Amino acid sequence: MDRKKAEERIAKLRTEIRHHDYLYYVKDAPEVSDEQYDKLYRELVALEEEHPDLVSSDSPTQRVAGAPVDSFPTIEHAAPMLSLESDQSEASLRRFDERLRKGLGADFPVEYVLEPKLDGLSVELVYRDGVLVQASTRGDGRKGEGITENVRTIANVPLRLREKDHQVPPFLAVRGEVIMHSEDFEKLNETLLAEGKEPFANPRNASAGAVRQLDPRITASRPLYLYAYDILASEGVEVETQWDVLQSLRAWGLTVNERSQKGKTVDDILAFHGGLEAERDDLDYEIDGIVIKLNDLDARETLGWTSRHPRWAFAFKFPPRKEITRILSIVSSVGRSGVVTPVAMMLPVEIGGVTVARATLHNREEVARKDVREGDRVRVQRAGDVIPQVIERIEEPDRERGPEWRMPERCPSCGTKLVERGPFTLCPNGFECPAQLAGRIVHLASRDALDIEGLGDESAKLFVAEGLVRQLPDLFEIQPEQLMKLEGFAQKSANKLVAALEKASHAELPRFLHGLGIPEVGVAVARDLSRHFGTFERLRNADEAALQEVPGVGPRMAEAITTFFRDPKSAKILDELLAKMHLQETEPSTQAPGSVQPLSGQKWVFTGGLTALSRRDAQALVERLGARATGSVSKATDVVVVGEDAGSKAEDAKKLGVKTMDEAEFLAFLKGNGIEV
Ligand code: IVH
Repeated sequence: MDRKKAEERIAKLRTEIRHHDYLYYVKDAPEVSDEQYDKLYRELVALEEEHPDLVSSDSPTQRVAGAPVDSFPTIEHAAPMLSLESDQSEASLRRFDERLRKGLGADFPVEYVLEPKLDGLSVELVYRDGVLVQASTRGDGRKGEGITENVRTIANVPLRLREKDHQVPPFLAVRGEVIMHSEDFEKLNETLLAEGKEPFANPRNASAGAVRQLDPRITASRPLYLYAYDILASEGVEVETQWDVLQSLRAWGLTVNERSQKGKTVDDILAFHGGLEAERDDLDYEIDGIVIKLNDLDARETLGWTSRHPRWAFAFKFPPRKEITRILSIVSSVGRSGVVTPVAMMLPVEIGGVTVARATLHNREEVARKDVREGDRVRVQRAGDVIPQVIERIEEPDRERGPEWRMPERCPSCGTKLVERGPFTLCPNGFECPAQLAGRIVHLASRDALDIEGLGDESAKLFVAEGLVRQLPDLFEIQPEQLMKLEGFAQKSANKLVAALEKASHAELPRFLHGLGIPEVGVAVARDLSRHFGTFERLRNADEAALQEVPGVGPRMAEAITTFFRDPKSAKILDELLAKMHLQETEPSTQAPGSVQPLSGQKWVFTGGLTALSRRDAQALVERLGARATGSVSKATDVVVVGEDAGSKAEDAKKLGVKTMDEAEFLAFLKGNGIEV
């Protein structure tokens, strides 16, 4: 291609790729498949390779990590990055509100913007003529460390601002928070632990660690994410309110937290605070409170600053989720995959509204590293969905400590001699080990797998201990009479569980696959594998190369899957299990190119309770028709199905003008698509 043509094509590809990045990261509503995106990206890479002089720093291909550095330069911020007055008490909040109203005069129509307080790392991004030219950490508020190369690797940070909906200013300094999503954090810690390295105590530390890596390649390998929330300084930007600031940032392609709201009174603030606190454990990122900001930017000037904080904002924090308690004993718990985990049994302590009496110590090397022993005083933390962890030991110079803790030599459940794998300790007895068997039963019965109500940890242990289940397939042979002999079961509960087991035996392939607990195979992978192979037999016989044809399946996962299926013991158990079940399999998608599923590309949200079917089954059905079932309502949502006692999502739908259906309408819709419930 001649140079001129290449130049034009490159410009076009960049615009298109940026647009798809924006739809994917900011709107959460991609319009093209991963394959289509990759094709555009590869074409751009090839053209830039052919014409290296046409490469520019804001090209989407330049998000790759640069060379390691010896140290970070010091960078002065465009405006001081202040911190906020913060407190957990309602009384302080009321004082803040009163002071603010007094400062503005009784007639001033106070309006606040209420935002989640993201628990990450505060950074400044500088855009000149729309191009990201600099990024720095907060540092002491006036000067921070230049981490431009690292921030460039964060996938949702635009390297060039979006011009389409909003004029791009010649200069813009943005403040935002770098965070790591809980799931990514847990995965990172698992990897670190498997490598014998020390895990991060929380997502915040993991983000800070990643942002401050001297080698941008390490940063690039860590899944960071940026939420923008403030304009620190700018030229040519005309905004009058914080709300406009957020809308502008969003229009320029930065990600703004979707939960921010406006509010007027202390009651509004308390409702927002309470609502978010209730949701805190379900969010996929960490927040430690809310930030309340006066919306009117001119009025902010009237109030001004104290020596350290603006008078127009307040951080209303949640109670901390760290507490101090004492370890009573350290026990070894055998998981479903045979890994033996040291668990600290502690004096019960309330952390953020939940009583905690157990915390994981990960593995024997972690126990040694933290040097915790029975009887020690420790700081314990609960973060997101993460199991409580012991963060550190608290020194008690005057107390005589117990002996160092040691991993037992034999499996506490079956007595088999334990083996060491890196920092981990394993019971090699597989399905024969009662603890592992009970763990597998619980996993198979769990919500995302066969969803067997009434079959939890306790029942599973009981069935194994009483010899009712000697192998996984026995589960589907259980009779009500046998159950009634066990403690805790009466006629009704026994019948109910047996009926639930019968129903579960008709499970759909992805649920079954997930329930098997194949290492590395979670809900999403199980679904992709099922879609690709269609039947269990086809998947089971696939070799590593065939497995890797499934998007998202890499060599490590492919190996884990084949190892699982090739193991003679599990193969035999699987055969027996399948013989007792009526697995619902679908053929792999053989759609002719061009033919579309009826809901292809749509996003559906379910809220409230349905009576004819579970929410999960309803989601699976619309997914079968090509839609994606998502969790939160946005403008991009196509339909919200509103069940009984639906909450805020139904209101969101109304506000945003998103189409809603009640249960009857939904069932009629399914029927129209050939699905009878
Ligand atoms: S506004 C003057 N908004 O909380 C404006 N901060 O001290 C100051 N933070 O270090 C910041 N989420 O890192 C603001 N939505 C949000 C925030 C937020 C998290 C952090 C920020 C700052 C600390 C407050």
